Amino acid sequence: MEPTRDNAWATLTRYTKSEALLRHALAVEASVGWYARHFGEDEQFWRAAALLHDFDYEMHPTLDKHPQDGAPILREEGWPEEIVETVLSHAEHLGLPRDTLLKRTLFACDELSGFVHACGLVRPTGVEGLEPKSVKKKLKQPSFAAGVHREDVYKGADELGVDLDEHIAHVVEALQPISAELGLRTAADA
Ligand SMILES: [Fe+2]
Ligand SMILES: [Fe+2]
Repeated sequence: MEPTRDNAWATLTRYTKSEALLRHALAVEASVGWYARHFGEDEQFWRAAALLHDFDYEMHPTLDKHPQDGAPILREEGWPEEIVETVLSHAEHLGLPRDTLLKRTLFACDELSGFVHACGLVRPTGVEGLEPKSVKKKLKQPSFAAGVHREDVYKGADELGVDLDEHIAHVVEALQPISAELGLRTAADA
C-alpha cells in the first residue's frame, strides 16, 4: 500500500461512517500536515498516519480494543509498519515509546486538534481570530469539551518540545483552511 493521504482516506472511510469521527480525522490530518511542512518531512506519509490513527474507533470504541485490534487490519491492507507503529503509539494506555518526530507530532495534535475544533464551533467566526490565550482559558474549564484529556494536551506539547501558545497557534492556522469540512463558520458567514 502506497502511504498516501488518498489511500489512507480510502481505508478510513471503509471503516468509519460517523461524521464526527471523520471530522476528527481531518482536523488531526491538517495539524500533522502543518507540522510535516514545518519540519520539512514527508507530508503524504504524515497525513496518512494522522488519517488512520482512529480508523478502527467506530468498530473498537473501547480501550481494550482501540487501537491495538486495528493494527492487524492495517498490516493486512499492506500499510507500512512505520504507519502501524505510529498509529499504535498515540494510545497512552499502550505505553509505547514515541521515538520518532511523527509519533510525537501525532500525539501532540490528537487531543488539541479536537479541542481547538470545539472552541471554533462555539464562535461566530469559527477558528478565525481564535487566540491561544482564549484556548488556554477554556482548557482550564473542565466542563468545556469534557472528553478532551487536558493532561494529554500539555504532555503532547511538552514531548514535542513546542511552547503551548505556539502549538495552539499552529493548530488554529492548520484548521482554518478546512473550516467548511469541519463545520466551522468563518468571518465570511458572520
Ligand atoms: Fe485514538
Ligand atoms: Fe484521535
